[in-house]
Amino acid sequence: MTERVAIIGAGPCGLAQLHAFEEARKQGATTPEVECFEKQSYWGGLWNYTWRTGLDEFGEPVHGSMYRYLWSNAPKELLEFADYSFDYHFGRAIPSFPPREVLYDYISGRAQKNDVGRFIQYNTAVRWVDNDTSGSGYEVTIEELNTGNSRTEYFDYVIVGTGHFSIPNVPEYPGFDRFPGRILHSHDFRDANEFVGKRLLVMGSSYSAEDIALQCKKYGSGPITISYRTSPMGFDWPDGIEEVPQLTQMSGSTAYFRDGSTREIDAIILCTGYQHSFPFMAEDLKLTTSNRLYPDNLYKGVFWLDDPNVMYLGMQDQYYTFTMFDAEAWLARDYIIGRFAMPGYTEREQDYRKWREYETQLDGAFDDIDFQADHIADMTQLTDYPAFDIDLTREMFKQWEEHKDENIVTYRDHYQFKSPVTGTTSTPHHTDWWYALDDRMTTYIGDGMQKTQSA
Ligand SMILES: Cc1cc2nc3c(=O)[nH]c(=O)nc-3n(C[C@H](O)[C@H](O)[C@H](O)COP(=O)(O)OP(=O)(O)OC[C@H]3O[C@@H](n4cnc5c(N)ncnc54)[C@H](O)[C@@H]3O)c2cc1C
Ligand SMILES: NC(=O)c1ccc[n+]([C@@H]2O[C@H](COP(=O)([O-])OP(=O)(O)OC[C@H]3O[C@@H](n4cnc5c(N)ncnc54)[C@H](OP(=O)(O)O)[C@@H]3O)[C@@H](O)[C@H]2O)c1
Repeated sequence: MTERVAIIGAGPCGLAQLHAFEEARKQGATTPEVECFEKQSYWGGLWNYTWRTGLDEFGEPVHGSMYRYLWSNAPKELLEFADYSFDYHFGRAIPSFPPREVLYDYISGRAQKNDVGRFIQYNTAVRWVDNDTSGSGYEVTIEELNTGNSRTEYFDYVIVGTGHFSIPNVPEYPGFDRFPGRILHSHDFRDANEFVGKRLLVMGSSYSAEDIALQCKKYGSGPITISYRTSPMGFDWPDGIEEVPQLTQMSGSTAYFRDGSTREIDAIILCTGYQHSFPFMAEDLKLTTSNRLYPDNLYKGVFWLDDPNVMYLGMQDQYYTFTMFDAEAWLARDYIIGRFAMPGYTEREQDYRKWREYETQLDGAFDDIDFQADHIADMTQLTDYPAFDIDLTREMFKQWEEHKDENIVTYRDHYQFKSPVTGTTSTPHHTDWWYALDDRMTTYIGDGMQKTQSA
């Protein structure tokens, strides 16, 4: 009997999985019956921008955490699909830091090429996954959000690709309950124009804090105070942005910080990260982990240690994204179609321990990048994922880190990154990022704007 695979989520990970199966099928492999369940009305996951916050039209928590004017925060060359280059998709070289709409177009292009949409059921949420009574497969309970109808289906394998940057981590600090302005998490941030002229407190010291503070300043906010808990980002911030130690309390609209300083604040944006959350997975199948490079209890970062027929994609803290998702999807596919022989529990556990031990030895971003590149290489050597120059991506990641340290406002204006797939060097963008207020794809790809001076 044909085996059945459930893929949960049609974001970049779910799409990578569908694509991997299609590539094998086109080469003549016998592939299983695949069904992908996506609770949004179309593919793309976080890249499928929504204006909504809170609950959606079905009363479902809104998945989207992306905001208007979001540009890639790393060069596109570091996430390029090895079998679908940017050159191929756009028909020419483009700059290295595309806005969200451009990357969404790229993801969609590959998904359309293999017509993987025919496997996806939209507006369909997975509510529960458990071992079936025979113990050989899984019962997956699905709800059609349009009708409210539920059904339970049997699958031989379950692949979870529901992301982990959607359920916010929302701390509370003394005085929040009496703060007269708006307090929001970055998950609900949509448009920097909301904060024009406002004095902002941005909490956190990672990518969201960095990018949302810069966005808000770029679009005309008042002074921005970034408050860190553990250590500052330490960039040479443009005028009007400064970093201070942890908040101790709010008193009305006055913020008090550990260094004894105070600031008057109009709105607070909590860039305090996200939780791995899988309420639809039965306890003994549920991934519980912090946001780290080698998540808990996953062999090869993918297979549930106790039961490799349950797989999780993209659950790592992410330097690499689309390339890593592809590497994982190829390996998951090859296990299912019998090309990758799954070792026994003891060997899986030893391999997992080896990687976790390696993870404890990492000291800083450069080590982290090498670790994740090694993880990808470890997977791709087990499959036929097309070759790409992974060592070049390591180097470019490190250059990118250096560019950020040199100037956090201009790092996106660098363009000498080289495709690890085609070798093409990217082109300069017509407008420096700080002055590029219009992020539409037509504007980005077109030549309609004059190149402006660096900030
Ligand atoms: C603000 C922000 C900016 C980012 N910017 C970048 C960037 O510039 N470059 C980069 O490479 N990466 C970026 N990322 C990282 C991002 O995690 C990845 O690019 C990518 O979107 C992860 O893909 P995914 O498929 O794992 O998850 P997601 O994109 O989150 O997709 C998961 C999908 O699963 C669906 N789903 C969830 N639960 C269920 C359910 N129960 N039933 C059915 N469907 C379900 C969701 O609706 C969603 O479509 C950013 C992340 C954030 C939060
Ligand atoms: N394209 C873009 O430009 C863009 C923009 C935004 C986000 N992203 C992506 O989104 C993903 C998530 O990034 P993220 O920054 O949201 O999450 P993150 O990297 O997990 O960082 C969470 C931050 O919250 C802080 N924090 C947690 N609890 C706190 C508390 N109680 N009080 C104060 N601070 C607290 C942490 O501080 P400690 O250091 O003290 O733990 C950390 O700095 C990343 O993959 C990133 O690449 C991309």
